Amino acid sequence: MRQSERLASVGVLAAGVAHEIGNKLNPMGFVVHNLKKRIEKGKELDTEQLEVLTRSIQNCSTIIEKLRALAHPEQQQPDKPVNLNEVARDVTMLLGAQSKSRGVTVNSELAEDLPMIQGVHSDLVQVVINLVLNAREAVIAADKKEKQVDLITRVDGSGRAVVEVRDNGVGMSSDVQARIFEPFFTTKGMNTGGGEGGTGLGLYICYGILSRHGVEPEIESIEGEGTRFVLSFPLNGEETHEPNA
Ligand SMILES: Nc1ncnc2c1ncn2[C@@H]1O[C@H](COP(=O)(O)OP(=O)(O)OP(=O)(O)O)[C@@H](O)[C@H]1O
Ligand SMILES: [Mg+2]
Repeated sequence: MRQSERLASVGVLAAGVAHEIGNKLNPMGFVVHNLKKRIEKGKELDTEQLEVLTRSIQNCSTIIEKLRALAHPEQQQPDKPVNLNEVARDVTMLLGAQSKSRGVTVNSELAEDLPMIQGVHSDLVQVVINLVLNAREAVIAADKKEKQVDLITRVDGSGRAVVEVRDNGVGMSSDVQARIFEPFFTTKGMNTGGGEGGTGLGLYICYGILSRHGVEPEIESIEGEGTRFVLSFPLNGEETHEPNA
């Protein structure tokens, strides 16, 4: 490998890590801020929020572990049974209150009879965080009275567990839709998406994680109306295009 290529791939990796950890630190800061306020007011601590914080710190450590796993692929996290409702609950805990403070309601509807899937919980939390953040940015950018993101789990006709993220935000043109999984593709300048700009790595990273879980994301989007991301997880033992190696 030429030195210039090596540097480029290290750069992509560094940007990915900064993106992933950055995505977690912001909501974690918000949870800490909330807990501090409760202490100052002499209120009881919210143990659920403390647990979310612990899990988020764990997730950050996982990202660092991934760096090591890239150097030593045999150390990748093994698949375990994952409850997608717990994934959704973690994301709501991390982003729900913060979104509310930005005028966006994150509404979650969880299926009671959802089958467990095989995978890596922290990676899937990462995927859903990215989808909900995108949805939130899309509704903030749209000039709608009611700003809502729906995080839904359901069972489809074949018995597969499905996670769906819907928003009534700006939507996408078909040109944009065709490019969203490209690394560094972003339409977010510094004046959109809450003024934070985008790296265009969010969905690229999601795509990699979903492929490892045998999921091909489906997208429906109408400009000016909103967007729907549908993730259908294969049943245990079901053939997928990209088996978990
Ligand atoms: N729910 C959505 N509604 C409208 N457009 C979306 C939505 N999700 C993704 N997009 C489009 O896809 C692009 C790529 O998304 P991606 O998450 O990869 O990067 P980003 O959000 O721009 O940056 P980052 O994730 O680093 O903050 C976005 O810039 C946006 O144009
Ligand atoms: Mg994004």
